[in-house]
Amino acid sequence: MSKIMKTSKEWWKLMLTDAELMLVWLEKQYHAELAAGKKIREVFSKFTMSNEDMGTLLKLAREEDRHALWLGQLLEARGVDLSTLEAHKPRYWSVIDTDNQLTLEDVAAIGHHAEVMRLERLEAIVNGDSRTPADIRRVMRRILTEELRHATIFKELSNSEAIERHLGSHIEGKALLGLEP
Ligand SMILES: [Fe+2]
Ligand SMILES: [Fe+2]
Repeated sequence: MSKIMKTSKEWWKLMLTDAELMLVWLEKQYHAELAAGKKIREVFSKFTMSNEDMGTLLKLAREEDRHALWLGQLLEARGVDLSTLEAHKPRYWSVIDTDNQLTLEDVAAIGHHAEVMRLERLEAIVNGDSRTPADIRRVMRRILTEELRHATIFKELSNSEAIERHLGSHIEGKALLGLEP
């Protein structure tokens, strides 16, 4: 893919003209969703919080697992054998601070930014080009609804200082994906 910065809408138009690029992107989404559920369970279990907040986060993690399942179905419908997929290094996360010293508010801010990064692309797919395959649009719409809620949940667990503190690396991560800030 070109390294030129593009809006999510332009990016999706490009995906629609290249089946191979689309498949690679779907594979990355699959890995990202699989990793998200695991990451949420692992990171947040280190903090003390109310049972209610922990319950909310565990539900959120289960929703990420389900997103991975749906993406896996999209891939299988396109002839991909999920057992042959290789692990990948997510570009966005390569610049995100995952230091052990982070507070709950920091981690929630990082989660919030990561969800926002996904929302822009999901919105471009759900509301954009009419050439978008129906199964992809359906799955992305369901995921979008849940990720919107996740972004709010993370924001509420965080605070404006932490969200501001992690904004720089979020913008840097987005740039690595070729997305406009
Ligand atoms: Fe997700
Ligand atoms: Fe999410």
